Amino acid sequence: MDRFDLIIRNGTVATAADVFVADIAIKDGKIVQLGTALEGAAREIDAAGKYVLPGGIDSHVHISQPSGEGIVMADDFASGTLSALYGGNTTVMPFCLQRKGHPLREALKEYHALAEGECYTDVSFHLIVNDANETLLGQELPALVRDGYTSLKVFMTYDDLRLDDASILKVLDVARQTKATVMVHCENEDAIRYLVEKHERSGNVEPYAHATTRPVAVEREATHRALTLAEIVDVPIVIVHVSNGAAMEEIARARMRGGKVVGETCPQYLLLTADDLKGMDWEGAKLVCSPPPRDKAAQADCWRGIEAGVFDLFSSDHCPFRYEDVRGKRNTKGLKSFRHIPNGIPGVETRQPILFSEGVMTGRISLPRFVALTSTNHAKTYGLYPQKGTIAVGADADIAIWDPTIKRTIRHSDLHDGADYTPYEGVTLTGWPTTVLLNGKIMIEDGTLVGRKGDGQYCAASLANSIQ
Ligand code: URP
Ligand code: ZN
Ligand code: ZN
Repeated sequence: MDRFDLIIRNGTVATAADVFVADIAIKDGKIVQLGTALEGAAREIDAAGKYVLPGGIDSHVHISQPSGEGIVMADDFASGTLSALYGGNTTVMPFCLQRKGHPLREALKEYHALAEGECYTDVSFHLIVNDANETLLGQELPALVRDGYTSLKVFMTYDDLRLDDASILKVLDVARQTKATVMVHCENEDAIRYLVEKHERSGNVEPYAHATTRPVAVEREATHRALTLAEIVDVPIVIVHVSNGAAMEEIARARMRGGKVVGETCPQYLLLTADDLKGMDWEGAKLVCSPPPRDKAAQADCWRGIEAGVFDLFSSDHCPFRYEDVRGKRNTKGLKSFRHIPNGIPGVETRQPILFSEGVMTGRISLPRFVALTSTNHAKTYGLYPQKGTIAVGADADIAIWDPTIKRTIRHSDLHDGADYTPYEGVTLTGWPTTVLLNGKIMIEDGTLVGRKGDGQYCAASLANSIQ
């Protein structure tokens, strides 16, 4: 009988701390040995000349999330996780949305049913608190955290989702008591509403106007407020999808005051600008997301944040809606005003290749920093480490093998999500994942799917590794 199920041989292995050439031995879904000239496996993969990295963890994706009357997200768990897998990911973390007036457990039951048997990657859920009532705060949330749902998102914007400051303070207080991790979407809803109404009154209703109703000041103010609320409660906080230097400065200042802040940015803030929507007419809806892409200076600031450590997480904020679809970007109301265009863009498959090509291959960031930003820090922030997010003895054998020599131009026809476009059509990238292992099982081999729907499992988070 073979000692190991599989050996990945001669690859350049990278973790968030190290780069070294080694063989990796896998048994029963776990990494069991790292070394040289390992022998005794039923199967071998030759990874000479390739990078062997922990599978990507995308801790900010939206899958099958209720999105308003008549609007349907383009991805279910099958298409969303298949797309993630092709992008070198082995775990994704979508959001389970509480319906107002209903318990979160009810939404969780439905969300688990949607995921069960459908996934190509492992999944772990965040919660969205949409109704911070006393039962939720006093009983439900503490029990859910004990059950392994240890992270939750709150919104300062969107009419149907926003919490006021008093409610956010209460949620943060529960997080402090339970050691849950709170993610905050920072935009000032009242300011946005004022600007939306002003634009609509002057007939300025095309998708391009979306960005002008959500300027940097709207995000900066809300970021400052969220950080202040966390400081008052004395609890760590995650500021998600940061789009510009002014919001980054707020994070840096809060850290200088001693606050524990995790910062996240996304590919759209590196590659897109608000001006890209100009001249696109209604096709600009394809790039409508919140916060919106900014300008070249903000892109440079976000790169600086990636390089210098303001950002700990690089996530996709994959939130796909089809463009040519009355249930998507071109719904009947959306064609009357940008206000009704569902917010969000697809990107789970392109997240890692974008950072690999534009970050690692250009020399902006090291390979360990890439691994930290795309995998390890996600596992650490959300209680999945060291089971996930690293290559170490005892960890799950979630591994992506990257070929740094492959140069390919992004075409939506080559991607696997349920949307009908990519914001990055025509962008040429160097370095792509070719083989992906999930819990020791080869899921994609040299670009070909060999794994099956249902191979991905649910993964509960553990407070033992919480950021608090
Ligand atoms: O526009 C975006 N980002 N949509 C997704 C929902 C969110 O706020 O993360
Ligand atoms: Zn958000
Ligand atoms: Zn999001």
